Amino acid sequence: MIERLLIGRSPAMRLVKDQIQRLAGRRTSILIHGETGTGKEIVARALHDLESRGAFVPIDCSVIIETLMESELFGHSRGAFTGAYEAKRGLVQEAHGGTAFFDEIGDMPKNLQVKLLRVLQEREYRPLGALAPVKVDIRVISATHRNLAEEVREGRFREDLYHRLNVVCISLPPLRERSEDILPLAEQFLIQFGGDHEIAPDALEAMHGHDWPGNVRELKNCVEHMIALSNGRLLRRGDLPASIGMPSRPVRAFAAVAAVRRGAAVLKALPTLREIERAAIFDAVAQTNGVLALAAATLGIGRTTLYRKMKEYSSGVDISPSESDLTVVVSAPCTSPVIAGPAPVSDNSSRTQNTGETVNSDNANSGGSSAPDLG
Ligand SMILES: Nc1ncnc2c1ncn2[C@@H]1O[C@H](COP(=O)(O)OP(=O)(O)OP(=O)(O)O)[C@@H](O)[C@H]1O
Ligand SMILES: [Mg+2]
Repeated sequence: MIERLLIGRSPAMRLVKDQIQRLAGRRTSILIHGETGTGKEIVARALHDLESRGAFVPIDCSVIIETLMESELFGHSRGAFTGAYEAKRGLVQEAHGGTAFFDEIGDMPKNLQVKLLRVLQEREYRPLGALAPVKVDIRVISATHRNLAEEVREGRFREDLYHRLNVVCISLPPLRERSEDILPLAEQFLIQFGGDHEIAPDALEAMHGHDWPGNVRELKNCVEHMIALSNGRLLRRGDLPASIGMPSRPVRAFAAVAAVRRGAAVLKALPTLREIERAAIFDAVAQTNGVLALAAATLGIGRTTLYRKMKEYSSGVDISPSESDLTVVVSAPCTSPVIAGPAPVSDNSSRTQNTGETVNSDNANSGGSSAPDLG
């Protein structure tokens, strides 16, 4: 079932699927972290579907107007405020017996964070204007694109709530760090959009060279775009949206240098050689899923040189490879012990073991090192 719900064969996605299956049937609170479009909501729905208990109620904290949020979430009694002619059940009550999915939880105002904490701890809350508390039984799944640990450090998010939400953290790496998923996802979207189209090798090559800042959502839109504009069955490079035919960042940087050598005077923000090297190194590591031996071979340098340069360019991020498997994995910003997915570059440091499991050292390194900026 999980294979149908979630497409992806990269080690990172296999770990995510494994985690979801292990969590099936449990009411554990789960925090899902990932960039926009990486599939946070689809993972939350999969977690709920496998449990198949009650309703799945999405609550997007980033779109509900702050002044209305309390009554939207927790409801209100009749006459609680001007215009409250009827009592209203909140979204939390709608989720009773099922799952409440708090999307963009980092946007929840602090006064409501206290109320949510009470729901998690006491299994009750008080609707606006009501005297008596209401009992509620919900499973809480939340999602964020932010580094919540950082939000806690900055005082914007309650630490006690953070720990309650983050009993297990599922981290979804960006699509650019799991390029094995591009083809199966694209094939799935071809089926979803109907027809019998096929993606030509030149288009696929361009898709593999793209950064996918909008992640899986961007890929889905891309496939839809190609189908809509294509003439025949075969979807070619020319059918891709304009932004995707562009070569990847290091290739663009090399092209820029080559253009200068040819005497072109068009380049305003020319990258330095150091920036080019840094981008090439981290792109190679990302595309080889952190396998240093492979990344070094791709770059045509020795593994020790690669490791030294990575340390140099990472400015303080602990990227130590394990002695045995020559693999580097730096975790996404979760602090709970169960974490998915090799993510070559991120805010916090961790070391891999042979199992591919990530040992998160965020707690030990609560000062937090900033992610290397590849841009
Ligand atoms: N592994 C996957 N398999 C199939 N479809 C996926 C997968 N990941 C994402 N998608 C699809 O990509 C789109 C974006 O996914 P989703 O809405 O879950 O992302 P998100 O992380 O919640 O994004 P945002 O942060 O912008 O809300 C959806 O149409 C979803 O169905
Ligand atoms: Mg979402």
